[in-house]
Amino acid sequence: MRVAAFSELTGPDGVSVIDQATPEPEHGEAVVSVEACAINRHDLWVLEGDPAMVDTDDLPFVSGLDVAGTVDAVGDGVTAVEPGDRVVLCPNETCGTCRYCREGPENLCENFSLYHGGLTEAARVQADRLVRLPDGVEPVDAAALPTAYMTAFHMLRRVDAGPGDLVFIPGVTGGVGVAGVQLASVLGAHSVGTSSSAAKLTRVESLGLDYAIESTDPDEIRAAVTEIGTVDGVLNHLGGEYTQVGLDVLRRGGRMAVCGRTAGGTSEINIPDLFLGHKRVIGSTMGTQGDLERLVDLVADGELTPEIEATYSLEETGAAFAAMQDRDSVGKLVVTP
Ligand SMILES: NC(=O)c1ccc[n+]([C@@H]2O[C@H](COP(=O)([O-])OP(=O)(O)OC[C@H]3O[C@@H](n4cnc5c(N)ncnc54)[C@H](OP(=O)(O)O)[C@@H]3O)[C@@H](O)[C@H]2O)c1
Ligand SMILES: [Zn+2]
Repeated sequence: MRVAAFSELTGPDGVSVIDQATPEPEHGEAVVSVEACAINRHDLWVLEGDPAMVDTDDLPFVSGLDVAGTVDAVGDGVTAVEPGDRVVLCPNETCGTCRYCREGPENLCENFSLYHGGLTEAARVQADRLVRLPDGVEPVDAAALPTAYMTAFHMLRRVDAGPGDLVFIPGVTGGVGVAGVQLASVLGAHSVGTSSSAAKLTRVESLGLDYAIESTDPDEIRAAVTEIGTVDGVLNHLGGEYTQVGLDVLRRGGRMAVCGRTAGGTSEINIPDLFLGHKRVIGSTMGTQGDLERLVDLVADGELTPEIEATYSLEETGAAFAAMQDRDSVGKLVVTP
């Protein structure tokens, strides 16, 4: 079978399509014929050689978390799915035995890790991590959901977003950002977001963004959001200097969920403002399989249409990562092996 592997960790030109043996499912596993695999900033960190993400001894490395397709074969002991089922993978990998696995939510697992291996024609996965797709939910839409939409949905739950709330999303045009806008709207909340690009903001406004701010400058953003209103919750996937901006515009007692560090892995924050304002900063990673099931239902019910910028063949996987690196796209980029 063909696999889009990271042969060198040099960025998009390090992707090459190679042949590998088609996997056989072992106990508890399924092999999924991959019809769609969305890419994420996470894969790009790996491809750019972030030493925290992958060891060069592991090359060629097959990334890709967000797998959707059809079950080809199942191993012993699998009852959750059968060959022919249309499915999407929840890429959470958990130990199933720690205190957090027992008590939930599962994404707190102390041995939490993520599935990698979807940028291929056939992926070997844990069968009980597959969610069945109802009729009408297409694999490309389903593949958009796990990392971006599940993460944004979980963050919205963590900040307790509800009807009438104002949610602030710095960097609103990417996977997590657009998902945050669409899902805030599903929950009855309003959204305000930022981008360096007026054209991309116009597109996100058409997807439900209520207030668009074209700026990357923290002072300008702070002033513009303050003019719009008091923020009830912040979805922060940028980190860096945007963390304090988010805290500045947050109402007293408001919550900020943090899931990323695109603009910087450290943030300086104003401690007196934090405690005097009773504000909460909440770390959040991925979501639960239950979140993913709920998202699949929202798509099936027509309440959510994941935003797909473009689809790419397996051979074009490097071009998909180049588009992400160039900050050229709105929403999700999906490889269709
Ligand atoms: N912890 C978790 O479970 C989890 C899950 C999913 C994602 N994440 C993290 O969340 C972040 C977003 O992921 P994603 O897949 O949505 O990425 P993405 O699609 O690449 O996000 C693009 C957005 O980020 C903005 N951006 C990019 N570089 C920037 C910079 N240097 N300064 C300011 N803004 C910048 C872009 O702004 P413009 O519109 O101006 O181009 C755009 O709005 C990543 O850090 C990712 O690792 C974490
Ligand atoms: Zn665990």
